Amino acid sequence: MKQDKIYYGGDYNPDQWPEEILEQDIPMFQKAGINLVTLPVFSWAKLQPSEEVYCFDWLDRVIDRLWRAGISVCLSTPTAAQPAWMSRKYPDMLPVDISGLRRTHGKRVNFCPNSPDYRRFSTAIAEKMGERYGKHPAVVLWHVANEYGTYCYCPQCERKFREWLKDRYHTVEELNARWNLSFWGHTVYDWDEVVIPSERNDDYRFYQPVYLDYRRFMTDSNLDCFRAEYNILKKYSPDIPITTNISGFIQQLDQMKFCKHVDIAGWDNYPWPTDPPARVAMKHDLMRGLKQGKPYLMVEQAPSQQNWQPYNVQKRPGELRRLSYQAMAHGADSVMYFQMRQSVAGVEKFHSALISHAGHENTRVFREMSQIGRELAALGGQTVGAVSKNQAAILFDWDNWWAAEGSNGPSRDLKYLEQVEKYYTAFYKRNIPVDFVSMEDDLSGYRVLVTPMLYMVKPGCGEKLREFVKKGGTLLTTVFSGIVDENDRVPVGGYPGELSDILGIWVEETDALRPEQSNRIVGKEAPFVGSFSCGLLCDVIHLTAPDTEALCVFGEDYYKDFPCVTCHPFGEGTAYYVGTNPEERFADALIGKIAGERGLRPVLEASEIPEGIEITCRENENGRFYYLLSFRKGETAVNLARSGKNFINAVTGEKVGDSLLMKEYDCFLLRER
Ligand code: GLA
Ligand code: ZN
Repeated sequence: MKQDKIYYGGDYNPDQWPEEILEQDIPMFQKAGINLVTLPVFSWAKLQPSEEVYCFDWLDRVIDRLWRAGISVCLSTPTAAQPAWMSRKYPDMLPVDISGLRRTHGKRVNFCPNSPDYRRFSTAIAEKMGERYGKHPAVVLWHVANEYGTYCYCPQCERKFREWLKDRYHTVEELNARWNLSFWGHTVYDWDEVVIPSERNDDYRFYQPVYLDYRRFMTDSNLDCFRAEYNILKKYSPDIPITTNISGFIQQLDQMKFCKHVDIAGWDNYPWPTDPPARVAMKHDLMRGLKQGKPYLMVEQAPSQQNWQPYNVQKRPGELRRLSYQAMAHGADSVMYFQMRQSVAGVEKFHSALISHAGHENTRVFREMSQIGRELAALGGQTVGAVSKNQAAILFDWDNWWAAEGSNGPSRDLKYLEQVEKYYTAFYKRNIPVDFVSMEDDLSGYRVLVTPMLYMVKPGCGEKLREFVKKGGTLLTTVFSGIVDENDRVPVGGYPGELSDILGIWVEETDALRPEQSNRIVGKEAPFVGSFSCGLLCDVIHLTAPDTEALCVFGEDYYKDFPCVTCHPFGEGTAYYVGTNPEERFADALIGKIAGERGLRPVLEASEIPEGIEITCRENENGRFYYLLSFRKGETAVNLARSGKNFINAVTGEKVGDSLLMKEYDCFLLRER
């Protein structure tokens, strides 16, 4: 089924209200331009009051009523929150936390992903729903459960984990070798001697190879739950795409792996008021990367206030519109919310909604949402399916994230996301678009690849990077890279392991700095003339190839004048290394240099575009679309003349002149003529 418009709408919980509420709500939905409603996400208890009894008639009426009003449905299975009777009758369904405590009923996403009872019931209700609604004309999208991510440490998970290990390693000897279990005499002689991580045994919990595999196993376990429902729904609706919502950049589940199995990626965008725009843009770009550049869905955002942050700031007038355009700017084909009507009690009673506690439409938030709704209706399907063609990429890897941050030394302050964001922001500021890729993706279309803190080099990864550079690519990798294999084992022979020949360096040791300490990066040639501060980690680097160049050296300490930033021509390409955590200004200068060398240009060559004007481009058979967003205070004139292009406003259809005056929060969606 081909999507023909930007989906506009979101979560609706009519089961929290008397049924007559529909007659109030639906006209307001129509007024606000809502074209898609997600339900019944948390209604399992109402849909299945007991083991034998299902109750769908109320849902039939809601779906039909929406459909008659011209509103489509994103139909979700309710399997994120099992009914109380189910938890009571089948307590094995409740997850056990890492301290060994079984959770009580309540909350949500509160099930053991390996519970056979959970699987039996979740697939049964998926079957019922597929059967009943799989061909309903209102249903344009399936949505499975909600924000997977539970880690469970119960006996059934432990048993399953052993089986998972058997599949992966075949023999205990292999397991002992891969996990290096001779360390502290952890050697096992039988699969049943393998125990899962536990807080009751910290040393073991943090025995990296075990926890790393447990994280992989938990990704697979949650994925199995999703897949079980997916396969059922597919049977009934082969043409309707199936998604689930990821709660942003969550560390628990490997989303690169998970999203291979969804038809379209979907995520929930809840930025903190303090998040810089680049951070939000980066998360969107990562979501686009989960399906190799395909458009995705923003399945949730808050209309204004949230309820779970310490200070739940209202979105400022215009902010919601800008966040909505920013989502589309990076590849989202939907603007969706949690939620349509605000709850009256419970933990989310202060979470904003289209229809607030006031119960009517005369609110600022309703007006702002309606304006977006009108604009999207005017835009129609023009931009749907549009993609961006980019020449720079950043590698993002969940295994690496888990392993680097769980490495137990050299510093407890290592944060993979911070390293990724630092280099991402340098591209972002220049409006040079970047993709996020996994090691399994095709790299051949890229000129530049950044692999921040590539601590873990998985099988095939070194070879892939070697090929990339040999064939002319520019690689930038940074401190604490090339340290371990996929089981967190250090290959003997010196850092950065498999990357050594590509980078032409040997890292003899890595110093960890306390938060109050810093060093300096000293350069002589542009753009590094002068000194930049750095900290966290500092590598003691030796140049091992005659043509490796030290672009900068350290300014202090016993490694003063040792190389700090290096460049090595390799094959047809070049490999850069930054052996420390530089201040942002340095990352900026380096990315500027690399962009210059490799001809990476801003999306739009408009003159004097100041920092704080975000510009992206997406294209499809309807043409090329430019998204311009202002994060600047006051008014900014954007001179479009230099781009040599002519534009029309894709929303209003009006011609756009040579200069665009942008106020703070302004967004424009322009189509090239
Ligand atoms: C998550 C959930 C929603 C809702 C929002 C509130 O993203 O998926 O059900 O609880 O948070 O911010
Ligand atoms: Zn379990």
